[in-house]
Amino acid sequence: MTNTGSLPQSIDATSELLNANDYVADRALATVVYLSLKMNRPLFLEGEAGVGKTQIAKTLSEGLDRPLIRLQCYEGLDISTAVYEWNYAAQMIDIRMREASGDTDRDAMEQGIFSERFLIRRPILQALQATDGKAPILLIDELDRTDEAFEAFLLEVLSDFQVTIPELGTIKAEEPPIVIVTTNRTREIHDALKRRCLYHWVDYPDAERELEIVNRKVPNASAELASQVVAYVQKLRKMELFKNPGIAETLDWATALLELDKIALDPQAVSDTLGVLLKYQDDIAAIQGSAGAEILREVQAEARADGAKAGAGKPQL
Ligand SMILES: Nc1ncnc2c1ncn2[C@@H]1O[C@H](COP(=O)(O)OP(=O)(O)OP(=O)(O)O)[C@@H](O)[C@H]1O
Ligand SMILES: [Mg+2]
Repeated sequence: MTNTGSLPQSIDATSELLNANDYVADRALATVVYLSLKMNRPLFLEGEAGVGKTQIAKTLSEGLDRPLIRLQCYEGLDISTAVYEWNYAAQMIDIRMREASGDTDRDAMEQGIFSERFLIRRPILQALQATDGKAPILLIDELDRTDEAFEAFLLEVLSDFQVTIPELGTIKAEEPPIVIVTTNRTREIHDALKRRCLYHWVDYPDAERELEIVNRKVPNASAELASQVVAYVQKLRKMELFKNPGIAETLDWATALLELDKIALDPQAVSDTLGVLLKYQDDIAAIQGSAGAEILREVQAEARADGAKAGAGKPQL
C-alpha cells in the first residue's frame, strides 16, 4: 500500500489541495481525485482540449510534492520509448572489454550485459522504480494517440503496477505511482483498460468556475474584463463551432486583451484578437459576422445590468 501520510484525507481536503495550487475543481472532480488517491487506482480523464486534464497531474505533483513523470503518447509509441531499452552501445563495449581481457565465459557475459547496469529506464519503469520512498505521479498523456497494442501492454502496468522484462524478470513497484491517464477521445479506449481506472469526464466549466479560474490565472485583468471574457466564451460554446475554445483559450484571450490595455470588451478588440480564442478560419469568419456582434451586445447588456445591480460580479447567463 502507498504511504498515504501526505495524501488528502477527505474530498474537502482534496479540493483545498487543488485550490491551494491554483486548480479550481468542481466537487465531482475533487471526489474522483480523492478516491483515486485513496484507492490507489489510476485516474482516467477524458474531455475536450484545454479543459485542464494535464494540469491535474501537474497540480498534484506540486501539491503533493512528488516528481511528475510524463509519458506523452503518439502513434507508434513503443515499449523501448515508454518502458525500457537495453543500452546496446554500452553492452558492446562491455563485451569487447571482456574479450580483450580474455574473459570468454558466455554465461557470465550474458548475465553481465543483461543486468540493470545496462538498462535505460524510460518513464513507465522510472515511475515503478521510485527510489526515495515517495511514489511519483505518472502522467500518461493523450493515450488516444497510441495504438491498441500499446494499450494492451498498459493493462499489466495499470492493474499490477509491474512490468516484465524477459532477460530480468518482473519488476514490481514497491510504491505504486499515482497514475493519471488523459485522452481527448479521438478514438475509444478499450473497456479492459478503463475498468482498471476511475473515470471522469472533464467538462467545460460553468461561468462561475471559469471566472474564478480567470481571476486566479490572470489576476491583473479588471473585474469587468474578466467577467465579460467569460460570458463571451460561455456563449461561444453554445454555438455550433467546429472547435470550441477551452479554458486555455479563455486564459490566453484575457491575457491578450490585458496586454492591449483593455478593461472591457469592445467590437474592435474582439475582432482583432479572435485568433487567440478560435483556431479555425471558418469559426473566426462565423464569429466576425453578425453572430459575434450579437453575442457582444448581449454580454455588454448583461454587464450593464450587473453594474446597475451594483457590485454583482458574476455574469448572468
Ligand atoms: N480548473 C482549472 N483551474 C485552473 N486552471 C485551469 C483549470 N483548467 C484548465 N486550466 C488551465 O488551462 C490550461 C489548459 O489546461 P490543460 O493543458 O490541462 O488542458 P488539457 O485538457 O490537458 O488540454 P489538451 O487536451 O489540449 O491537452 C492550463 O494553462 C491550465 O492551467
Ligand atoms: Mg493535455
